[in-house]
Amino acid sequence: NTIVLAYSGGLDTSAIIPWLQETYNFNIVAFVADIGQSRKDLYDIEKKAINSGAYACHIEDLRNTFVENFVFPMLSIGAMYEGKYLLGTAISRPLIAQAQIQFAKKIHSIGVCHGATGKGNDQVRFEMAYATLAPDLKILAPWREWKFRSREDLLNYLKEKKIFTTVNSKKIYSKDENVFHISTEGGVLENTWNSSNKHCWSWTQSPQKAPDVPERIVLHLYKGRVVKINDETFSPYKCLKKLNKIGAKHAVGRIDIVENRLIGLKSRGCYETPGGTIIFYALRALEELILDHDSYTWKHIVALKMSTVIYNGQWFTPLRDALQNSSKVFSDLITGKVLIELYKGTINVLKKQSPNTLYISEYSTFGKDSVYNQKDAHGFIQLFSLSSRLRALSHNFKK
Ligand code: ARG
Ligand code: SIN
Repeated sequence: NTIVLAYSGGLDTSAIIPWLQETYNFNIVAFVADIGQSRKDLYDIEKKAINSGAYACHIEDLRNTFVENFVFPMLSIGAMYEGKYLLGTAISRPLIAQAQIQFAKKIHSIGVCHGATGKGNDQVRFEMAYATLAPDLKILAPWREWKFRSREDLLNYLKEKKIFTTVNSKKIYSKDENVFHISTEGGVLENTWNSSNKHCWSWTQSPQKAPDVPERIVLHLYKGRVVKINDETFSPYKCLKKLNKIGAKHAVGRIDIVENRLIGLKSRGCYETPGGTIIFYALRALEELILDHDSYTWKHIVALKMSTVIYNGQWFTPLRDALQNSSKVFSDLITGKVLIELYKGTINVLKKQSPNTLYISEYSTFGKDSVYNQKDAHGFIQLFSLSSRLRALSHNFKK
């Protein structure tokens, strides 16, 4: 009677271990997905899980898979939720759930468990993946079942069970971190007339404290992916780490958002995605050069749909596949380089170039050219305006 718990070492999942044992007499195995969260959170995590009563703890290094197969494809599609959010938490859930399920099957466990609350998106994302990948496994979501209602309740419970935790009642923010992003929710952010404070930002410097001198970097992209920074080649994971560092220094990639959760509640959060934001703008800049208007529009419609598919946890669906493949036709064209300037929270693309560019100055010039025949425009406008002319004429006939 083993249950595999998606374990982070945080307050919620620490309380879940003794609670599941006490309530159901299950054997708990903690599963930790390493997707690039702070090394501090991973340090001694096995010991922590065992101390909380877990039978065993399994840590899986998913850092490269996460960036290569989830983050980079999502960025090349250009998915952004409600005009701001680059989906840093949402994109991690399907991978965590998938790895958890694989592990649960390997050790023949009877079910899986997560620590998401009954009020959020994460419960949906985990369970959407569980449903597709292991419809027969038991699913446990203690937050929807137990009598605890707050973080204070959980702290008291752990104290009662004599389980040590580094969390205390002063650390009120709920944070979620991976190599792509960190989110901060709760605390002062729960009143929309409170501005964020320095505790709401973990990775990035404030624009005020950022360097007074702008920094320029050149990004080389190949088929919708960044492959080189300033002529140095990087794996996707290393590339993101490097851009996070540069971006954080210059205060880029911060958002303070009130968003619509799938279940209908509004939520406020401060999210930091420094490297991802730089890549997002680099891709946009090359799209400007490469895509014709209808392709550009279609790619953005696909991106908009994809943002809700990812937000709502529909990663393992034929719809996600269809959207991703449709977008890939375009992102395979996104090759070239951009010169970006970072300065006090801003990202400016100063130069861009692509072998697939449709911007050919011989054609686009305001100066004298020998390739474009201005007379051609006459026939084009005649036909483009034909229906308008016909409508006006038929109007006249009726009079
Ligand atoms: N609201 C964001 C989302 O739904 C961030 C969620 C953060 N999750 C967490 N467990 N702290 O994607
Ligand atoms: C949670 O409820 O576990 C975090 C917030 C969310 O899932 O949206």
